[in-house]
Amino acid sequence: MKRVFSGVQPTGNIHLGNYLGALKQFVELQNDYQCVYCIVDMHAITVPQDPAELKKHILDVAALYLAVGVDPEKSIVFVQSDVSGHAELSWLLTCNSYTGELSRMTQFKDKSKNKESAPAGLFMYPVLMAADILLYDTDLVPVGNDQKQHIELCRDIAGRVNGKYPGTFVIPDGYFPKEGARIMALDDPTKKMSKSAENIHSRISLLDEPSKIKKSIMKATTDSDGIIRFDIENKPGVSNLLNIYSALTGESVSSLETRYEGKGYGDFKKDLVTVTADALAPIRDKFNEIRYSSELTQILRDGAARADSIAQKTMARVKENFGLGL
Ligand code: TYM
Repeated sequence: MKRVFSGVQPTGNIHLGNYLGALKQFVELQNDYQCVYCIVDMHAITVPQDPAELKKHILDVAALYLAVGVDPEKSIVFVQSDVSGHAELSWLLTCNSYTGELSRMTQFKDKSKNKESAPAGLFMYPVLMAADILLYDTDLVPVGNDQKQHIELCRDIAGRVNGKYPGTFVIPDGYFPKEGARIMALDDPTKKMSKSAENIHSRISLLDEPSKIKKSIMKATTDSDGIIRFDIENKPGVSNLLNIYSALTGESVSSLETRYEGKGYGDFKKDLVTVTADALAPIRDKFNEIRYSSELTQILRDGAARADSIAQKTMARVKENFGLGL
């Protein structure tokens, strides 16, 4: 069976962009692949974290994985720092990476902008991400569009290592959804929806109550021409809402355009409120059921043991190929 790997950072405020860009695909791929889903806590510490909050967010993301429909009987769910192979492989890949290519990563450039010196962890972030993926001989990586450059770098590093040490890594492909690969902020559709934006109405968090969902969508930035049409360049706000509607319901954007012809933004937004609230209600219920249960930690322990047994096999092969150890 081919293998899928993906991860989400435990940084709170998991939102509709994370769901439509990644988590929804996690669930859909479970029947056809062996799926490995990770909570990437070591990526989270590339920026300062409060230890108690980090612990809480790790369990929040784990519970959200299950709440959206990841099935621990089928898929492996675990916390990155519980499997030592991630850090170990990361070093081996660091020795096969170049500062030039890492300096070109847009995420690093954004996060280190106007700073004389940036944390080295932020710089090495994509190498740890490559280690996550390559450790599991991954074929497919479901992620949103913002991770495209990181996946390309992972493929470059894997290809480079295979050139030196043939047969070491499986070269993975990214897997991007048709709709939802880039959900934009509701208050500013030129920026992507993000966990860290100050304005809570810029995003819909997966655990938002219906009243908050309503407020955020009704306030969402549109334009003044009153036509419900997909046009990213000239109508980014309306296009983003159409994209969300389509990704949540499976109805195509062109069908939505036809159905809402002659109707106003108010009607369209009201329907989108209903669609979003209906989609998130079962996720919130399941989250509340599982978040504080002992089952959750047991699932993560089992997941780490299963992940570790795959990781150890890969590490033995990689070390042998590199000529490391006894
Ligand atoms: P993270 O935690 O920022 O985001 C988790 C997933 O959500 C996607 N995403 C979005 N998709 C659509 N629209 C948006 N506005 C949006 N915002 C976020 C992200 O693309 C991602 O799929 N580097 C990764 C975590 C990671 C990882 C990995 C992923 C670490 N190791 C190995 C895959 C494989 C990240 O920061 O995701």
